[in-house]
Amino acid sequence: MSAYQQLLEQLPQQPKKWLITGVAGFIGSNLLETLLKLNQHVVGLDNFATGHQYNLDEVQGLVSAEQWSNFNFIEGDIRQLDDCQRACQGVDYVLHQAALGSVPRSINDPITTNSTNIDGFLNMLVAARDAKVQSFTYAASSSTYGDHPALPKVEDHIGKPLSPYAVTKYVNELYADVFAKTYGFNCIGLRYFNVFGQRQDPNGAYAAVIPKWTAAMIQGEPVFINGDGETSRDFCFIDNTVQANLLAATTTNPDARNQIYNVAVGDRTTLNHLFEAIQAALQENSVNHSKKPVYREFRAGDVRHSQADVTKIKTLLGYEADFVIKDGIAKAMPWYVANVKAAS
Ligand SMILES: NC(=O)c1ccc[n+]([C@@H]2O[C@H](COP(=O)([O-])OP(=O)(O)OC[C@H]3O[C@@H](n4cnc5c(N)ncnc54)[C@H](O)[C@@H]3O)[C@@H](O)[C@H]2O)c1
Repeated sequence: MSAYQQLLEQLPQQPKKWLITGVAGFIGSNLLETLLKLNQHVVGLDNFATGHQYNLDEVQGLVSAEQWSNFNFIEGDIRQLDDCQRACQGVDYVLHQAALGSVPRSINDPITTNSTNIDGFLNMLVAARDAKVQSFTYAASSSTYGDHPALPKVEDHIGKPLSPYAVTKYVNELYADVFAKTYGFNCIGLRYFNVFGQRQDPNGAYAAVIPKWTAAMIQGEPVFINGDGETSRDFCFIDNTVQANLLAATTTNPDARNQIYNVAVGDRTTLNHLFEAIQAALQENSVNHSKKPVYREFRAGDVRHSQADVTKIKTLLGYEADFVIKDGIAKAMPWYVANVKAAS
């Protein structure tokens, strides 16, 4: 039995109190769904900057009334220390997801990205430390590899950041490390590599590639590829990411604490192949999109290739990427077909 399967069996017998920041967002709402289904108690903090009430409503519909009663939502802002302090009261495990994502957003507005991702992060660290939580697991990012050319990416070898967003995520790692050394605080950073799945927002200027292309195909609109389409990424289905968070938060292995881990599959898919995979998966769901993609300029701040080495997280946390990209796309598409159609 895998470490995750064991954990899924143990958790319902020992309900704990979790705090998910960014709970109304894509990753946060998926963490919420999993934890409530495991009969855990969850506090959620969000200011709806990019998250949505309808994500929370959807989770409510997917769990029992009793499980939903274990959820306490706080509308608040991580840039306010007192909101963070209120949210951390009595919490065992923090899963800190709240941040402003997107490289282009950070290039357009570095100040707001900085205040949310760095000031907000520091507030959360201080509040969680003072509340004496057992562990603080936070969303780091593969963007921290920056201009380092090596593939696959190994945790210890990073380059210079290529965007303000990448700077903020690297600063998070530096602060977490200093809190571990200075206060003996238990932090684990998860460097996510292009997470995708149900509830990832297809709308807005800063939508991620999979939801953006999927929505465009469903609505019969053109799909734009930045560059020649040979740019590649290690696309990671949301269930893998949820698994990594739960394993990290609850680990009792002393060697596994105060570490940074890649969270990915360990595979690489080009944008050209991604386009074909989404087109094929939509066809399975009776959505026919036969238009060719439209190629345009490369986008500033993007790295050319990204692929993770996942040896460390497998070895120290017992993580196993249960979903490769094809399976993840197959699982996510029905949600997009149902929701994008409904919205248009
Ligand atoms: N999705 C990915 O591929 C990916 C990759 C690397 C890292 N990450 C990181 O994972 C985390 C979650 O990303 P996501 O994809 O779910 O994005 P998301 O935008 O769907 O979720 C982020 C959530 O944080 C909330 N938030 C933003 N500013 C806040 C503030 N000041 N106070 C309280 N809440 C605030 C938003 O309203 C939103 O609900 C982020 O830290 C992001 O940087 C994501």
